[in-house]
Amino acid sequence: MSVIRAVACGCGRYLPERVVENAELALTIDTSDAWIRTRTGIERRRFAAEGEKTSDLSIVAARRALDDAGMTGSDIDAIVLATATPDQTFPSTATRVQAAIGMSGGFAFDIQAVCAGFVFALAQADALIRTGQARRAMVIGAETFSRILDWNDRGTCVLFGDGAGALILEAREGEGTSADRGLLATDLRSDGRYNELLYVDGGPSTTGSAGVVRMAGQEVFKHAVLKLAETGATALARAGLGTADVDWLVPHQANLRIMSMTAAKLGVPMERVVVTVQDHGNTSAASIPLALSVARERGQIREGDVVLMEAIGGGLAWGAAVLRW
Ligand code: ACO
Repeated sequence: MSVIRAVACGCGRYLPERVVENAELALTIDTSDAWIRTRTGIERRRFAAEGEKTSDLSIVAARRALDDAGMTGSDIDAIVLATATPDQTFPSTATRVQAAIGMSGGFAFDIQAVCAGFVFALAQADALIRTGQARRAMVIGAETFSRILDWNDRGTCVLFGDGAGALILEAREGEGTSADRGLLATDLRSDGRYNELLYVDGGPSTTGSAGVVRMAGQEVFKHAVLKLAETGATALARAGLGTADVDWLVPHQANLRIMSMTAAKLGVPMERVVVTVQDHGNTSAASIPLALSVARERGQIREGDVVLMEAIGGGLAWGAAVLRW
């Protein structure tokens, strides 16, 4: 049976220039390189320069994805941008990208599922493509989390970094089997009873300011391992695949211990897990597309490979996507 599939045809990334090593944080925060490395796997992260906005990071990533796909802005007819750190409350950061890349038609909008945002955005783009509302969609994950950190809270401020990644999906015909290229399945979940585990203590209709990250780290950790393994397995089953079919697991890059425990639960060996957390820190919605772009550059993900992506974040919101590149 002929079906429409959303097929990956280009990706790009941008990281701000400023590299902040753990040792630099330890100069002003009561922490150490050893503590951060052993608890999280993070060695360094990037921070946006003063005045550098989420849209600025997104626009460079978007242009690089267009180059990679051999396209221009006018070839794209939808942008779905996941961020919890938009330039402004409105308009959407996506519309800024739309204008900057010369995309005069179509539509662009932001979505908000924090660290799970890229998986949620992928599912939206997939639905738009499969229902014929877009032929080519750009999915972006972009964050400037350095703007919403409490520098007096060492349990959170050492974890995050800034960056943006973009993936272009194009409608192509498939056979309707798991051998097709493109997005094969997604699984989206949330449970608002867990709002208090991870949130920002401000917002337009509460304090009128952006607020800073608050997190119950150990609780989030426990939920993360269980829920990520479960959603990954569900998405794979929906795609008609098993763990043995996974060429690359591309998890949300929050913490190396969460990634290795989830991989073990799923039964994916660490040699097949794409890891970038050491260089990027936790970049929330940007972490998966950044990792995809790095993996493509390293020659890890090749055409035909099955890529399982999974992420969890504030909400709690979590989910997974299976893509045959
Ligand atoms: N440097 C040094 N010591 C620290 C730091 C730090 N940066 N942060 C906390 N500590 C101390 C604590 O004060 C505590 O000291 P105490 O024993 O004297 O009271 C000790 O280290 C242990 O603290 P815990 O919070 O128990 O440390 P834990 O091993 O749980 O690690 C961490 C904390 C890294 C936050 C972990 O819980 C975690 O990774 N949780 C997952 C949360 C996460 O990644 N969230 C990101 C968003 S959601 C997502 O993306 C999955």
